[in-house]
Amino acid sequence: AIERTLSIIKPDAVAKNVIGEIYSRFEKAGLKIVAAKMKHLSKAEAEGFYAEHSARGFFGDLVAFMTSGPVIIQVLEGENAVATHRDLMGATDPKKAEAGTIRADFASSIDENAVHGSDSTTSAAREIAYFFSTIELAPRTR
Ligand code: CMP
Repeated sequence: AIERTLSIIKPDAVAKNVIGEIYSRFEKAGLKIVAAKMKHLSKAEAEGFYAEHSARGFFGDLVAFMTSGPVIIQVLEGENAVATHRDLMGATDPKKAEAGTIRADFASSIDENAVHGSDSTTSAAREIAYFFSTIELAPRTR
């Protein structure tokens, strides 16, 4: 089915100047960028986005990292977009990520792992609505 997923290029990858390289991988995999913005997240914005991880030991470091510089946030659309995007990203820990994935190629650690992607269509719906308003999510007609 055609799905939408929420994708974030994290501060480490923005700093490495690989935004275009990562967008190119999305496009070559058949994913359309249907909404996008650059944003320097506040502490409250990062905490709200990652609320499900608030009890985890890594939460403080995660929020500090995600607010350390600008991120690029996009909505990707395509056939099986959630799984397609996760395949492109590779495992959360870059040491375990398959060769040729975004995290294997650009991430340096599980904390600074270059990209985020929704893990299901349910979380995609929540994450997309967290960052984008209805008018920013209009259907792409061409
Ligand atoms: P992300 O997909 O953005 O979702 C939560 C992030 O927490 C994850 O990527 C990692 O960058 C970070 N993180 C740090 N330690 C862990 C861990 N042990 N398990 C899962 N995520 C972790």
